[in-house]
Amino acid sequence: MENIVLDKNKIPTHVAIILDGNGRWAKQRHLPRVLGHRKGAFNIYDVSKAAAELGIKYLTVFCFSTENWTRPDDEVSYIMNKPMRFFKRFRKDIVGSSARIKVIGRRDRLSKEFLEMVNDMEESTKDHTGLTLTLCVDYGSRDEITTAVKEIAKKVKNNEIDINDINEDLITNNLFTKDYPELDLLIRTSGEERISNYLLWQLAYAELYFTKTYWPDFNKDELVKAIYSYQNRNRRFGGLKDDSSK
Ligand code: IPE
Ligand code: MG
Repeated sequence: MENIVLDKNKIPTHVAIILDGNGRWAKQRHLPRVLGHRKGAFNIYDVSKAAAELGIKYLTVFCFSTENWTRPDDEVSYIMNKPMRFFKRFRKDIVGSSARIKVIGRRDRLSKEFLEMVNDMEESTKDHTGLTLTLCVDYGSRDEITTAVKEIAKKVKNNEIDINDINEDLITNNLFTKDYPELDLLIRTSGEERISNYLLWQLAYAELYFTKTYWPDFNKDELVKAIYSYQNRNRRFGGLKDDSSK
């Protein structure tokens, strides 16, 4: 890799990744798709470590979407077991590290065992002050926004808030990511250039980065490249922030 030097003062605080390409990674090697998912799950650990080393504070990864249930049953059960295998394999390391674990998405379709594991991981790491690693499981952004709208409507109906109290902050504060900093950078692996119902509200001013690398091959060097690209963007947030806009 060419020698990339990152600006330590411009490390993105919150990075999200759409983990894509596990199946194609496996196919390329004439392996069953599930082996791609296995490698992909383990890779979350390595990339999280790299993210923490680089000074990223929040890493939010898309593991399973509200639409992924339509895949064949055996693949769904494999992918849904993926975070469980991930936690089983890395529990000790994660609990012994400074990383804080969060899992966001619908909770009503997850198994009891799965939920117990999630609660255990969240509870055992809740006071950690290092990287916040969020796994999005049974997550869909439209579902998240719909849930927020229902919550807000309920408060209006119960006269807890007035309709004029509804503003952008209130909506932000009713999303799963309510305490999170603004999203700075979204990465999607595998060459697809779509958002696929991920963090639609949170993406408002994020920079987008697409790489052809399949998720199981995405590593620290790739993350450095993505951050380097981010650091060379001119973020104006709708304004005219500096001279490079000329
Ligand atoms: C990403 O890999 C993992 C999930 C979306 C669950 P894919 O399973 O989408 O891999 P491809 O796109 O078929 O290569
Ligand atoms: Mg895919």
